[in-house]
Amino acid sequence: MTRIRIRQPDDWHLHLRDGDMLNTVVPATARSFARAIVMPNLKPPVRTVSDARAYRERILAARPVGSDFEPLMTLYLTETTTVDDIREAARSDCVHAVKYYPAGATTNSDSGVRKLERVFPVIEAMEKHNLPLLMHGEVTDADIDVFDREAVFIERHLDGLRTTFPDLKMVLEHATTEDAIEYVQSAPGPIAATITVHHLLYNRNALFEGGLRPHHYCLPLIKRERHRQALISAATSGDERFFLGTDSAPHPKHAKESDCGCAGIYSAPAAIELYTEVFEAAGALDKLEAFASLNGPAFYGLPVNDGFIELEKRTWSMEQEITAAKETIVPLRAGQRIGWRQSNG
Ligand code: DOR
Ligand code: ZN
Repeated sequence: MTRIRIRQPDDWHLHLRDGDMLNTVVPATARSFARAIVMPNLKPPVRTVSDARAYRERILAARPVGSDFEPLMTLYLTETTTVDDIREAARSDCVHAVKYYPAGATTNSDSGVRKLERVFPVIEAMEKHNLPLLMHGEVTDADIDVFDREAVFIERHLDGLRTTFPDLKMVLEHATTEDAIEYVQSAPGPIAATITVHHLLYNRNALFEGGLRPHHYCLPLIKRERHRQALISAATSGDERFFLGTDSAPHPKHAKESDCGCAGIYSAPAAIELYTEVFEAAGALDKLEAFASLNGPAFYGLPVNDGFIELEKRTWSMEQEITAAKETIVPLRAGQRIGWRQSNG
């Protein structure tokens, strides 16, 4: 197949940042995606509906002319989030989910949750008001091997959450392990997982290929090949519980190429094309539309998009660097070839 047409996709996990950076990052996503679940890990975090409304306006102002890209906002769950915050969020037309970060797990997660049980009353309110809980599913204890953080989260917390809040909609964000896939496939109740394109494309050797590769550093870390194979099987299976979430997370080049580099991979400029590569390699182009465009809206209870996009099998090269505001960002696949190209939009 050299050309495919799919219903317009959405990105169910995205970091857009703030300020002048939005003028570069928002158009990169709006090129392909109609909507995106926008992560709240700004500094300070997006804690309330009014924070989310103000951030949404800044994102809308950065859309390219004529774009009707729709940011779906999230709140950052802290130990001071209240049941009233949840009620207000559920009633709003702007907030679509609440994001759980364990404190210290990743970029701007200091305001995250230290003890999960402390936020149980708030999670109960989310269950009651049908507001999904989006999870950065890792434990951060220093004695846990960093490659095991997700598996230990599932064991220690996820099953407990599932049983305590049986009707709570939950998304295990950026699933990276076979353990996560097996859990989500078999758990009772409304649970789903997003899968990034970088975890589908690479195994952990990519972090050390010929030297240390900071642009392949993200959290959760990229794992072993057997885990990558499990992610590919899940993404290409058509199973409604798995859908597209890039976790595209730009950082300035100097902050990545540093003695203590930031976690995050900027995949937005070629996200849909790279997912298409993965699905083609798996012989599953016919399942791309379910993963990218149908399963996510079904989980969130939203309509699928009206439009369509076309992808052409045509090689092009990703830029080495992208200028954003006064910064330089190195995108995923910088200076390398990509085998598909979106031909409209
Ligand atoms: O690699 C990551 N980058 N993982 C996250 O969870 C956060 C993100 C960011 O905001 O940079
Ligand atoms: Zn993220």
